[in-house]
Parts: sequence; C-alpha cells; structure tokens
Amino acid sequence: MISKKMEEALNLQINKEMYSAYLYLAMSAQCTEMVLDGVAKWFMVQYHEEMFHAMKIYNYIHDQGGTVKLQAIEAPKEKFSSVKGMFEKTLEHEKTVTASIKSLVDLAKKEDDPATEIFLQWYVTEQVEEEKNAMDILQKLQMLGKEEGPGMFQFDAALGSRKLSVPSDFSEKLAD
Ligand code: FEO
Repeated sequence: MISKKMEEALNLQINKEMYSAYLYLAMSAQCTEMVLDGVAKWFMVQYHEEMFHAMKIYNYIHDQGGTVKLQAIEAPKEKFSSVKGMFEKTLEHEKTVTASIKSLVDLAKKEDDPATEIFLQWYVTEQVEEEKNAMDILQKLQMLGKEEGPGMFQFDAALGSRKLSVPSDFSEKLAD
C-alpha cells in the first residue's frame, strides 16, 4: 500500500511523463515537416520512452492497490527555429523531470515508504541517461556549427539509427 499523498504525487508524475511524450512528439512532427527524418525518428523513439516511463508508474500504482487518476495533458506550444533549439529545450526539460523525481524520492523517504523509494531508483538512473543523451547531441551540434550541408545530412542519418529499447505494448506487464 502507498499513502494517499504518495499516490497523488505519483499520479502527477504520470502526467509529467505523458507531457514529456507529447513534447517530444511535437518536436518529431516539426522535424518531419523540416524533412529531417532522422531527427524526427529520434524524437519519436523518445516519445515511446516517455510513454514507457508513464506506464511503469501506472502499473506500480495498481501493484500497490492504488488508483490511477489521469489528468489533462498540456499542449506543447513552442516552435523551434533550429534543431539545436529543440535539444536545448530537451535538456532544460529533462532537468525539470530530474528535479521532480528527486522530490518524489524525498517524499517516499518522508512517508517512510521504502518500496516506492526503491521503485524510484530506476528513474534516478534513467534521468542521468536522459540528460547525458541531450548533452551529447548538443555537443555534436556545436561541432557541426551551421545546420546545413553534408554535415547536417550525416547528423540526421546518425540520429535516425536510434532504436526503441522499451516495449511499446503496454497491455503486457512492463519489464525493466
Ligand atoms: Fe521520463 Fe525524459 O524523462
């Protein structure tokens, strides 16, 4: 069992993860419209990853006998004039998610809830990777300079090689 306070906070995190999915889906759409199919694929994979993050919490709430309460997902508003702008936004956004996970860990400690604390460790580790991915790509864009020519063509192709590493069928019990 989890406390009502913990349940509420986890439900809010589902919404944040779904907003993340929505944000990256919007970026994927914009990249497709810019004929950057590789970058569009990268963001589409990220969209699936975020849905996985959300659904992992959804299952955990049920495993703990709690109630999932879905809330409205905000529409991403920003339009970007460059791919660099998108990854800057990605890094900034992931930092807010990291802070949110940290607050959940703090709450689990406060609520004397070691099960949720252990559950959240997966997210703590995942956030290190999420921030690193965005930082690495921003460094590559820095090396590239202008977003045009053969360099951009290669960058787009490289990002397009990203493969989905999480299950996309959420009707199955989610594995790590
Ligand atoms: Fe689910 Fe990108 O954090």
